[in-house]
Amino acid sequence: MEKVAIVTGAGQGIGRGIAGTLSREGYRVAVIDLDSAKAEAAARELSGQGPPAIARAMDVTDAKGWTRLAEHVAGEWGRVDVLVNNAGISPRGTIDSTDEALWDRTLATNLKGPWLGIRACLASLRACKGTIINIGSTHSTLPMRGLFSYCVSKAGLLGLTRQVATELLSDEVTCNMIAPGWVASEGERLIQAREGRPNFPEGVRNMSTAEDVGAAVVFLCSPSARRVTGELLHLDGGLHAVGDVKLVHGNGP
Ligand SMILES: NC(=O)c1ccc[n+]([C@@H]2O[C@H](COP(=O)([O-])OP(=O)(O)OC[C@H]3O[C@@H](n4cnc5c(N)ncnc54)[C@H](O)[C@@H]3O)[C@@H](O)[C@H]2O)c1
Repeated sequence: MEKVAIVTGAGQGIGRGIAGTLSREGYRVAVIDLDSAKAEAAARELSGQGPPAIARAMDVTDAKGWTRLAEHVAGEWGRVDVLVNNAGISPRGTIDSTDEALWDRTLATNLKGPWLGIRACLASLRACKGTIINIGSTHSTLPMRGLFSYCVSKAGLLGLTRQVATELLSDEVTCNMIAPGWVASEGERLIQAREGRPNFPEGVRNMSTAEDVGAAVVFLCSPSARRVTGELLHLDGGLHAVGDVKLVHGNGP
């Protein structure tokens, strides 16, 4: 029986890359995204090249949606081996300019959504001794001015990752976080263009790709990683070790 993965925010960007990598590894993938057209297109492409994939238009902040999705996937495919909580937003705003609505939306998408997903899929994950992977950020551990609600949400997601790993130790369900560097995803390109930077700056040291993230996901799902849980895997070319946020813009040492 082919293994089954659920990937959120898989209509484009990093999530799309992760879904493609898992499909090439032989997983049936449930492609979850707010954007139904993008989810459908991704699932069609995956089904054309590998095991069957399904698309589901869903907001990850919708608890009832998660319950329906978990039932649907379990009904269709009978198992959930891997849950990748990738859907996320990175709105700009300082402590002063972030209002309650922005705080609530960021925390709901980036932190509450992963919890709801884990909770909904728990029975299936336990039955499969499965794997949960949360997509964090360099900013899970390294704050940056102007990304107030984002940095708080991604730090919270690291706390969630460790807490879930602890509570699921005896179930042999692993839970880890991947912290990508800067990835030129569709969403990130839009943000850069909006800020007057159509091209990514020269000399940036922390660029990574959706494929880099996909490869890390495959490792964390593999039998070799069965003893890896509660861990944070950075893919940022060492930025977190240097601890200098200026490197994000390529103007550091
Ligand atoms: N791009 C980067 O440089 C970078 C770096 C570190 C971490 N990340 C993280 O990686 C993840 C993916 O980022 P990306 O750059 O590929 O983003 P993106 O904006 O290109 O794609 C995100 C996808 O998630 C979907 N989505 C957003 N909110 C949703 C919701 N509430 N419910 C369901 N789907 C939703 C969007 O429709 C979109 O298809 C995010 O969690 C982001 O914080 C990105």
